[in-house]
Amino acid sequence: MRFLITAVPTREPIDPVRYLSNRSSGKMGYALAEAALADGHAVTLVSGPVAISPPPEASLVSVETAREMYDAVAAHLPGVDVAIFCAAVADYRVASVAGEKIKKAEEELDLRLVKNPDILGSARTVFGFGGLLVGFAAETHDLARHALDKLRRKQCDLLVANDVSRREIGFDRDDNEVTLFFPDGTREELPRASKRSLADLLIARIVALPKQETQEMGRQDGPPAA
Ligand code: C5P
Repeated sequence: MRFLITAVPTREPIDPVRYLSNRSSGKMGYALAEAALADGHAVTLVSGPVAISPPPEASLVSVETAREMYDAVAAHLPGVDVAIFCAAVADYRVASVAGEKIKKAEEELDLRLVKNPDILGSARTVFGFGGLLVGFAAETHDLARHALDKLRRKQCDLLVANDVSRREIGFDRDDNEVTLFFPDGTREELPRASKRSLADLLIARIVALPKQETQEMGRQDGPPAA
């Protein structure tokens, strides 16, 4: 099957030398790409900037900002069977990026932020994606409620949720512990494991999901905000 995987944090520039980002390391998304390749699938990896190396067999599409990731996903989604949105996309970007380095002058500096497009939320509604759709949710509280809400709102076939308030798992750790949420309301807690062995398990679960009717829903105008 053909997979498209988004991974790692996006960077939203403030000026030519500074940016807003988050603590995601990209390890989970890259492990998923490795696991899908090892299972014999073709992988397009849409990746923001990260310190780790992508698997050489993946077709790498490098992006930096959420809007670049949105455009890359729109361009590469046609023909894909399974889309996994594992990226930690910045919800907001700086409204007006300074052309030159902002100098230290005033005691206070205000940055006005505007909402980025929701890439996963656009998959069904804007891009007309009819394949298997997998989302991730990193939460610090009310994990199940937020995960189920995202699963339904973004029309996913599977939502993988992890509790990032726990320091021993999640962001920038080698291990992860996730709960899977399915559209019929069932859930499955997977035991703590390395991100790579968890990725093998997730790919096995994903390829066993009931297939969607492939339907062209047609593009609508403009991306919804995240
Ligand atoms: O940010 P949030 O917790 O809503 O992310 C849930 C899912 O949506 C993740 O799979 C993430 O990759 C995706 N997402 C996205 N575009 C955004 C925000 C989130 O694709 N702007």
